[in-house]
Amino acid sequence: MNEAIINILAIESSCDDTAAAVIQNGKVMCNLVAGQKIHELWGGVVPELASRAHQQNILPLVDAALKNSGIKKEELNAIAFTSGPGLIGSLLVGVSFAKSFALGLNIPLIEVDHMHAHILAHFIDEPKPEFPFLCLTVSGGHTMITMVKSHFEFEVIGKTTDDAAGEAFDKAAKILGLPYPGGPLIDQYAKLGNPRAYAFPQPNIPDLNFSFSGLKTAYLYFVRDEVKRDANFINKNLNDICASVQHSIISHLMKKLIKAANETGIKQIAIAGGVSANSGLRNAIETEGKKLGWKTFIPKMEYCTDNAAMIAISAHYKFLKNEFASQNCQPHAR
Ligand code: KG4
Ligand code: ZN
Repeated sequence: MNEAIINILAIESSCDDTAAAVIQNGKVMCNLVAGQKIHELWGGVVPELASRAHQQNILPLVDAALKNSGIKKEELNAIAFTSGPGLIGSLLVGVSFAKSFALGLNIPLIEVDHMHAHILAHFIDEPKPEFPFLCLTVSGGHTMITMVKSHFEFEVIGKTTDDAAGEAFDKAAKILGLPYPGGPLIDQYAKLGNPRAYAFPQPNIPDLNFSFSGLKTAYLYFVRDEVKRDANFINKNLNDICASVQHSIISHLMKKLIKAANETGIKQIAIAGGVSANSGLRNAIETEGKKLGWKTFIPKMEYCTDNAAMIAISAHYKFLKNEFASQNCQPHAR
């Protein structure tokens, strides 16, 4: 007898990317993202504009995802969506769309936590981590170290006490006059600069927690003072400034991740979230990992930043456990 086929359509709309993916028996058949350029004009995500752009994007994107995957809507077994955390107006677009589509097709709904999905992106391809493993999840809104015990058990053992690592990247970029989101640009310029050109004070925060607000202030005062001395300071030294900023953020992340690995004795180490696309962080994990005998898991670029394939794989495991959401479920900002 043929094994049952499980086809799931997943929707992600937690922030400023509208994403749709189709997965069949845990294999990604199509993974599409529509970014929202409009926010560049404002130097950050404007929630109301994000919500409106999701409304415009979602229908053509889902249509394209189904066509590209070769799976008809009548062949879908469930609709998955991100229930939070995220911007409430953005989440509502995805949740409402998922509910109506599931209702129309008379198939179940599956709700997925965005942060768990970033971690479970490691189960899309081979090699997959074994449980328990540690995951450093670094995005625009979150920074945390999670001990992952199963596809459904996540213990946060350290987290930021103020800003997220992605915010520190984006804020530094803004100070340097670079457009939003500045993280990828800092990464690009940093490749050509000296990471030790300028030293920023490392945050002093206990346990496995993080703090980035002090670093943000340090970048601001440093650039302000240097520009007073030389109006062309940024232009002349952009590569070195970016390399030094990146170095300061990565050093803080690595220090806590190494501490977590030592304290727990866990040697399977993963990174996830938008900032895991950073080449400096990817290199640091590999280099330190080799020294410390870790087995490291670094996601493919398309699964680092927000995407729906990670929502789809998380939903696949929930489907196997018959964990479905009701039509009354609500999105949650936090
Ligand atoms: O996970 P994500 O796509 O969205 C959130 O859930 O927040 O993460 C977005 C964050 C932004 O702060 C962006 O600047 C940062 O990830 N980011 C990077 C890089 N690519 C994305 N930061 C540093 N280097 C990169 N290459
Ligand atoms: Zn994210």
